[in-house]
Amino acid sequence: MEDTEKIVEEAVKEAEAASDSRALYEVKMKFLGRTGKVTALLKGMREIAAELRPAFGKKVNELREALEAKFAAREESLKRKEMEEKLAGENLDVTMPGRRRAAGALHPVTRVKNQLIDIFAGMGFEVYEGPEIESDYYNFTALNTPADHPARDMQDTFYVTEEFLLRTQTSAGQIRVMEHKKPPIKVLSPGRVFRSDDDATHSPMFHQMEGLVVDKGITLCDLQGMLDEFARVMFSETSKTRLRPSYFPFTEPSVEVDVSCAACGGKGCSLCKGTGWIEVLGAGMVNRRVLENCGIDPEEYTGFAFGMGIERIAMLKYGINNIKLLTENDVRFLKQFQE
Ligand code: PHE
Repeated sequence: MEDTEKIVEEAVKEAEAASDSRALYEVKMKFLGRTGKVTALLKGMREIAAELRPAFGKKVNELREALEAKFAAREESLKRKEMEEKLAGENLDVTMPGRRRAAGALHPVTRVKNQLIDIFAGMGFEVYEGPEIESDYYNFTALNTPADHPARDMQDTFYVTEEFLLRTQTSAGQIRVMEHKKPPIKVLSPGRVFRSDDDATHSPMFHQMEGLVVDKGITLCDLQGMLDEFARVMFSETSKTRLRPSYFPFTEPSVEVDVSCAACGGKGCSLCKGTGWIEVLGAGMVNRRVLENCGIDPEEYTGFAFGMGIERIAMLKYGINNIKLLTENDVRFLKQFQE
């Protein structure tokens, strides 16, 4: 009987001292486990006088129940403490600002190219992309610019061989289209072009967007109507165009097209050098010689063509003052074109 009192005392002390639920389990086994001290008391019953056994048995059972309750209570408080510690360690401040992920964006040249395609696709144009390495025939001869033509000089050309060159203009695609397709034709031809030319507004590689329309009764008015719509959507609601006489071997008459300056609204500023107008593209009525070269009867069909520099449009639209910025891939520059 005295032993039992001592065991209770000892068990309670050790249970209190257990610092975590694992240690507590060890203590519990030490007393209540199969080889534990309380279990040993029950096993020792045989050695006790028969008349004392019921009282002793009762006492030990009470002891066991009391200890079980004690262990359960201690275990609950330890588990709660452990859970609190775990939660504190995993503390998450949901009000903290998230880490931003840098998102890529379309290059301004791609952006303007897509916008141009959108504008002209809305007028029924389809897209054709010609090869970047062209033959002399498609780039020049078929475009009414034979070998001895002085206009070849205007386009300082990179030749690959005697016959092949890096195309100097997307106009080469006009011929490829007209050779394969009979009117009505309404084609848009974007792509890279190459010229031995290099300063703040010229780059040896740049992009052009070519347009070609061939059908019965096409006039210069159709060209200007479409370009007005282009200027309105690309630059501003109040943008206007004006045509000035120019020269290209493959168009007759030929024009240079100006758009009213979107920066000053046409009053004159540093961007338009005080004129109120900015040159954006070359165009004209397709020269009958070119139609003939492609087997299209110029008595039956007429057409117009235009070609614009995509970098130039992007520079005007976004106020970029050096064409090199468009190829340097400086993220600080490119970041400004995220929407
Ligand atoms: N190909 C000409 C250039 O690169 C532009 C142009 C295209 C002019 C179509 C007239 C018609 O300068």
